[in-house]
Amino acid sequence: MLTSMYRHNSRIASRWMNRVRLMSQSVENPKTAIILLNMGGPTTTDQVPDYLLRIMTDRDMIQLPVQSKLGPWIASRRSEEVKKKYMEIGGGSPIYKWTDLQGRLLTKALDQMLPESAPHKHYIAFRYVPPFTEEALNAVEKDGVKRAIIFSQYPQYSCATTGSSLNAIADFYKDRSLPKIKFSLIERWATNINLAKVFAEMIKDKLQLFDEKIRDQVLIMFTAHSLPLKAVSRGDTYPHEVAASVSATMAQLSVPNPHRLVWQSKVGPLPWLQPYTDDAIKAYAKQGIKHMILVPIAFVNEHIETLHELDIEYCDEVAKEAGITQIERASAPNDHPIFIAAMADVVAKHINDGPSVSKQFLSRCPHCVSQRCKFSKEFYKKLCSTDYNQPELAAKI
Ligand code: FES
Repeated sequence: MLTSMYRHNSRIASRWMNRVRLMSQSVENPKTAIILLNMGGPTTTDQVPDYLLRIMTDRDMIQLPVQSKLGPWIASRRSEEVKKKYMEIGGGSPIYKWTDLQGRLLTKALDQMLPESAPHKHYIAFRYVPPFTEEALNAVEKDGVKRAIIFSQYPQYSCATTGSSLNAIADFYKDRSLPKIKFSLIERWATNINLAKVFAEMIKDKLQLFDEKIRDQVLIMFTAHSLPLKAVSRGDTYPHEVAASVSATMAQLSVPNPHRLVWQSKVGPLPWLQPYTDDAIKAYAKQGIKHMILVPIAFVNEHIETLHELDIEYCDEVAKEAGITQIERASAPNDHPIFIAAMADVVAKHINDGPSVSKQFLSRCPHCVSQRCKFSKEFYKKLCSTDYNQPELAAKI
């Protein structure tokens, strides 16, 4: 069943890739590749079963008992319900559209800021839907770039998200020789000042919608994808990096409003990081707090968790039932100019004087016993220390 599902969906994926190629950016002889990592989301409901299957069988993302059987079973059981959700937000996820636009705007900005590494070209490497990591890496090699910057689009690092995408790159090169490209890695950028500024702008836009008399009492509720407590106890840095983004945003916002960080999108029966966003809305309503803004602090573009879970399930259904008077949801950064400036700032600093791979990335969670993580860290140490453009350095490795 698994094989036929993959076969059927790979036909869909291949049709999709043809569309992607037609849409892809045409840059003559790019010198620097910017590889944008993200999970991706189904562009059509046909992609939902394969998308769920890939998530549920990815042990970096989620660990289930007898995963090879339970994962496909959960994926197939949830497919219809998830397809329905995508239909309710217009038939698919906009994540490809936003990532592609962000990539175009980012490389345009970089071409102006850094003529010596231009032309820059972006490549999208999604984990669970096309264009997949391997498609992006094949394209990077085919284009003959001199330098490739792997740039995570999850600003806050987690071994389950960015870690999983990076493991997919390590898997790709497991049985093949490394190309003559200088690779480097930006795996986290949670406290970039422009990132904090764009979230602050998004909140200010929504604060304006509240009556002036109560505006400074509106509760600002930052919400991020939750994480299993098992991963938190292992030492995953995600919770404190999300908290750092919240603090940086509040510092830019400079308003007296109260704020909290809550967690959404839990799956399965095991305990995850709390309080959950929907429970928090209900609990605050009981405390008499009836004006609030939800801020998706860990998503750089709109997708199902913002458009369906926050907008439809929480702002509409949960808030109505709890008797909330007014609830707004801050937009994701998408193509906001300050967000593009944040991306460009992160990449330019990295190109100018960043380490090719950070010591923080090369360290492991205190309770990590995964051989896969161990292999991956060693792989990146090698991948990012080889500079074929400086043969004297490469010769020493
Ligand atoms: Fe975090 Fe292995 S689980 S480094």
